Amino acid sequence: MCGIVGYTGFQDAYTIVINGLRRLEYRGYDSAGIVLENKNANFSTAKTKGKVDDLVAISENLKGTASVGMGHTRWATHGVPSDRNSHPHISNNGKIALVHNGIIENYDTIKKMLTEKGYTFKSETDTEVLVNLIQYFMELDANLDFPEAVRFALNEVYGAYAITVMHEDFPGVLVVGRLGSPLAIGLGNKEYFIASDASPFVEFTKEAIYLEEGHMATISLENGVDIRSIVDNSKIIPAIQELKLSLEQIEKGGYEHFMLKEIFEQPKSIHDTMRGRLIVEEGIIKMAGIWDHLEKFTNANRIIIIACGTSWHAGLIGEYLIEEFARINVEVEYASEFRYRNPIIGNKDVVIAISQSGETADTMAALKLAKEKGAFIYGICNVVDSSIARITDAGSYTHAGPEIGVASTKAFTAQLTILSLIALKLGKHNGSLSNGEFMKLITELDHLPKKIEEVLKSTHDLVKNIAKDFVNAQNFLYLGRGYNYPAALEGALKLKEISYIHAEGYPAAEMKHGPIALIDENMPIVIIAPKKGHYDKIVSNVQEIKARKGKVLAVVNTGDTQVSEMADYVIEIPETSECFSPIVASVPLQLLAYYIAVYRGANVDQPRNLAKSVTVE
Ligand code: AGP
Ligand code: GLU
Repeated sequence: MCGIVGYTGFQDAYTIVINGLRRLEYRGYDSAGIVLENKNANFSTAKTKGKVDDLVAISENLKGTASVGMGHTRWATHGVPSDRNSHPHISNNGKIALVHNGIIENYDTIKKMLTEKGYTFKSETDTEVLVNLIQYFMELDANLDFPEAVRFALNEVYGAYAITVMHEDFPGVLVVGRLGSPLAIGLGNKEYFIASDASPFVEFTKEAIYLEEGHMATISLENGVDIRSIVDNSKIIPAIQELKLSLEQIEKGGYEHFMLKEIFEQPKSIHDTMRGRLIVEEGIIKMAGIWDHLEKFTNANRIIIIACGTSWHAGLIGEYLIEEFARINVEVEYASEFRYRNPIIGNKDVVIAISQSGETADTMAALKLAKEKGAFIYGICNVVDSSIARITDAGSYTHAGPEIGVASTKAFTAQLTILSLIALKLGKHNGSLSNGEFMKLITELDHLPKKIEEVLKSTHDLVKNIAKDFVNAQNFLYLGRGYNYPAALEGALKLKEISYIHAEGYPAAEMKHGPIALIDENMPIVIIAPKKGHYDKIVSNVQEIKARKGKVLAVVNTGDTQVSEMADYVIEIPETSECFSPIVASVPLQLLAYYIAVYRGANVDQPRNLAKSVTVE
């Protein structure tokens, strides 16, 4: 978690770093800092608790003073967000500056060792230990080169890191290293960029190196990029990637927030997810990742889906889809639980990891465990070349485009689209799904972008109005059945993470086993009630709620009467097959969460305490 930006070249480093940090602010935003190597090869540093704007307020005097520098936006793991705990951290001798993304797990032991040797610490962070460890190695051996000292220090720490380090006595040199957290190096013409993802440098170069796990690089204008293995210093020839990202993809394009832009992008993102894969006219689904390994899936002992948060909700729907259409046994697990509970898993199992960012530490660790135990591992990621995408045996990108808002929206519906394609493909292949059913379902799937477009048009103003009535709500229940039970969980997660209203999702029938006790006239209940999918049962649930004076906001199909007559608020969505209804129903729920949060004055794109990619456990 956190964003790192570094630069060496001919442009103003302050401007590049600050603009880059703004683009990476989604990764962490409780503090920000910058260090520049000024014309006398001395450091100028500024750091503060707060956002990049707060940093700019105290550092604008640094503009135009340097062409080498680096910056950081923090998501605190060790020590509260404060000026002192912000990065960069500087070594005791004042010569080495370091920014870090991740956690140094053995920082305490190293801190004790360094304290005994007389080192002092200004912050509570794990990071400050690492920068002093580098100084320590340089003092032990006066002939030690700076990059070599960084390498020595990295060999002493364990945990997760992406770091960038500068040394006053080595002007123009940036040393970077990575284990567990991402880092990209942009290769410009007489300039180099470093960043946690490519967005800070996309307008300057289309060529990048994604640093691999366990690698470090020394970067300078004189010697270019020298990549080495952290363990044994062996030289590595990197692969240079061509960036597909464009500037407009990462800008707000006239919307007030990235989240709203991303909600509105869904007709396109779902279409992009299916593009080249779903060919309705030929009646086929072409997916390279699955195609090459069909037997692995259809002969699997079981499929285990692992993920966190929203991606886990997508996984639950994936379970329903794959079991219904391909009749293969599926289990869904929280990655964080899976990795620590000594799961039974072997080489007849297929593990599917779902992750928007492709960097989630728990998902990554769970995958590594499954791989060690011999399972075939498949990734569903949105971020191309992300860490998870790279360690899987095969996979499918969701191609939803960059998702910047911390609350996942278009990535979720893209994940559901991919899972639908996989389930239908497998079902067709192993004969669980007749040709007729397959054709009917893929035709429906193909119509989804159009339907989402209709939903956005017909529900946007309505939901915006409805949201006003819930600004002061303190709790919410979200209910759904079957495929829409995970959609209820996701609706509740959206609301709580951006509006800070407590919300819970439940399978509608579970209501009577506990949550019903909460229902009174102050309890808003969102109920997802499409025609297809246990409608009669849902009608009874609504009656039970109304009998207790609960306030019902129902998401129903166009033309619905029964539920609509009982509900206090009605949002209509077009009909589709039950299995695709969560894709359609999620859209008004995203809008509802969005507008309630906006009316409450919350920071929608950067909700408190959260970050876009959770690269720590
Ligand atoms: C989504 O709105 C959340 N911010 C969060 O639950 C997220 O889905 C989770 O952290 C998993 O992220 P990933 O998909 O990038 O692995
Ligand atoms: N562990 C470091 C800290 O708490 C880095 C956190 C981050 O990735 O932002 O400062």
